[in-house]
Order: sequence, then C-alpha cells, then structure tokens
Amino acid sequence: MATVPQDEALARGLKNVYLDTTETSFIDGEEGKLLYHGYNIHDLAERSTFEEVCFLLWHGRLPTRSELADLDSLLKANRAVPPEVIEVVRLVKDAHPLDALRTGASALSAFDPDVNDESTEAQLRKAIRLTSQLPTICAAHYRITQGQKPVAPSQSMSHAANFLYMLFGKEPDEDARKAIDVDFVLHAEHGANASAFSARVTASTAADFHSDIVAAIATLKGPAHGGAAEEVMKMLEEIGSPDNVDEYIRSRLARGERIMGMGHRVYRVEDPRARHMKERLLVLGQKMGHAEWYQILERIVEVTAPLRAKGISLNVDFYAGAVYYVLGIPEELFISLFALGRMPGWAANIFEQWKNNMLIRPLMKYNGPMDLEYVPIEQRG
Ligand code: COA
Repeated sequence: MATVPQDEALARGLKNVYLDTTETSFIDGEEGKLLYHGYNIHDLAERSTFEEVCFLLWHGRLPTRSELADLDSLLKANRAVPPEVIEVVRLVKDAHPLDALRTGASALSAFDPDVNDESTEAQLRKAIRLTSQLPTICAAHYRITQGQKPVAPSQSMSHAANFLYMLFGKEPDEDARKAIDVDFVLHAEHGANASAFSARVTASTAADFHSDIVAAIATLKGPAHGGAAEEVMKMLEEIGSPDNVDEYIRSRLARGERIMGMGHRVYRVEDPRARHMKERLLVLGQKMGHAEWYQILERIVEVTAPLRAKGISLNVDFYAGAVYYVLGIPEELFISLFALGRMPGWAANIFEQWKNNMLIRPLMKYNGPMDLEYVPIEQRG
C-alpha cells in the first residue's frame, strides 16, 4: 500500500506562519503594539478620523488637507444604495444582520459600474463605494426589521455620524459620534486576521472585488472573530451586577468555558485597542446612566488576573460590546459594526494582494486510507 510522506511540519491554523510581506499594518503581540502604515494606533485613535485612516490604508501615507477633503466628498457622494438592493435587503429581513449585509454586498456587485474593471483606479472606486454603501445597507436592514422606513444617507455628516443617523433617524451627539468613529478606526485593519485572509484568498484567484469582500464578511461571522463583542454583552447581561462577577467567572472557567473579549491569536499582552474603547465606555456609561457595565468589566479584569500569566488578556471586543449597548445599538448588529469598520482594511489587503499576486493554495497532509479496492454497491454488506 502506498504511503504519504509524513515528515513535513504541519502548521495547523497557520499559527505563526508568515503568508507574505505587508506594509499595511504591523502587530507586535508581545509588546501590544499596532501600527497602520507606521502610525501608532494610539495616535490614530486619539487624533485621526475614520476618513483619514481610509486614506492612510489605501495610499500608504497621511493625506494633505485637500486630499482628505476629496476623499471625504467621494465617501459622502457614494452613500446611496440602488433601490433594488434595498428590496433584496427587505426580502431577507429575517436573516441575521450580518447575513443581510453579506447578501446586500453581493447584490451591490450587480449594480456597480466598475464590476468587471479590476484596474487599480476601479478597485479604489469600489473600495470607496463599498465603504460608503455598507453602512447604508446595515442601517436599512435594521430599520426594516423594526417596521420603519430606511433613512436616506446624509450628505453632510461624517461617516460615523451618518451611520448612527441612518440607524436611529436623528443626528447623534458628539460623544456618540466620537465613540463610533474611534471604534471604526480601531477595527479598520489588523494584518492577516481570518476575514482579511479570506479576502486575500479570494482575491488571489483573480475574483472580483465584491466577491473578495463578500468572502471577508462571511468569515467575520464566527464568535472566534467578529462575534466576540456580542458574546461579551451576553455575558455582562448574564452577570447583571458587579457582585455576581466572581462567582460567574469562577464557574465559567471551571466548566472550561472561555471568557469572551479575552485572548488573541497574536497578542500575549493587552490588545492596544482595548484602552480606547474603555475610555469611550467610561464617558458614555456615566453620561447615559449605565456605569454598571464598566464596573462589571473592571471586576472581570481583576478576577481573571491569573489568565494573564498564560498570555490571555483583554482584546478590542472586551469593552466594545458595552459601548454599542449604551449607544442603543442592538446586540445582533455588533458584528456588522465590526464589518463596517474593517472594510477599508479588507480593501487594503486586496490592493496589496493584487499588486504582487500569487494564488494562495496550501497543501493538506492526507491522513486517510490509501488505494482501497472499490466494491460495487450490491456486494457491500
Ligand atoms: N478565556 C479562557 N481561556 C482562554 C481564552 C479565553 N478567552 N482564550 C484562550 N484561552 C485558553 C484556551 O482554553 C487554551 O487553553 P489550554 O491550552 O489550556 O487548552 C489556550 O488559552 C490557548 O487557546 P487557543 O484557542 O489555542 O488560542 P487561539 O490563539 O487559537 O485563540 C481566540 C484565540 C481569540 C480564538 C481565543 O482567545 C478565544 O476564543 N477568545 C474568546 C473570543 C474572543 O474574544 N474573540 C475575539 C478575538 S479579537
């Protein structure tokens, strides 16, 4: 019987494997450092905006004032979605919001004037369009599920403010706008994460831009990736009060269950993005009379201190879910917010893949039987 060579090392989950080189983001998991094109995430979270980060990720440098104004105008001008796509969203209104977003993104390709043009210029136009259109689809689906009419996008508000406006039908205040803007900046890019990897795999086959993004949205859905903020919020609701934290966490760990919003494939120390969502939660929680979520989370941090020795620390989703909740955003929408924030990073990964494309096609080490004799069905016991 033939055998399969067993000597090559396996890299299950592609853990610690470098797929390619990148200039888009740098992550140091030991130090807890994240850079977008060389710029520290702390500076970007505190001093930049989502629109500026889009420019940075797509062009590899910070924009001048007029370049930023041009991109901002394009993003605003591309927010509308064809009515046919809103109809598709209406047809799938009972789907999970991320599934509706994925379906809407797929439907958009049928109406995109650049769908068959994969030139660098057309890819950038599609990145701008999808970045602007995904929030419109997400908000329209939410309103349809609430029995309300979708709100037409604003032509004047920022990307973050317009999203909240389309969701709730009123212009958000500065703290709410800032929280979503920071959230989108923090989520915009993160190396070879599973959804960006999916986008790259699809792009590497020379599939069109919309297909790459649809693959990324689909991959984001799982709780090990995009679903964690929702899981954290469910955990907080189960806990209910800071007094219940110790018992809840101890019994959860005793059952071998994970603490959501903690642990990361790359970070062995605290995710540098977490502190910015913590600041937003502190501001919003106090203002909206929801200080208890912050207190529960801080008690969880204390009780889970022993996990730090195993390299399990807070990730970006630890505080994010509570921020969304305090803003009145329903839990089922949390993953979609991640997708809206990550959209420019997916696009940047696709651009980079295309610049020097090579089909991504690893091997599987076969572990099954070999050369079995085919037995006709009538002779099988
Ligand atoms: N709570 C408790 N233990 C955890 C944990 C958590 N959140 N995350 C990892 N661990 C433990 C595992 O149980 C495992 O322990 P063991 O070696 O004793 O079996 C060890 O840490 C390694 O876990 P593993 O799943 O192999 O690591 P990974 O790199 O594949 O996991 C995540 C990364 C993100 C999937 C994982 O940390 C997780 O599930 N976190 C919770 C979900 C979450 O917040 N995801 C958002 C990521 S941004």
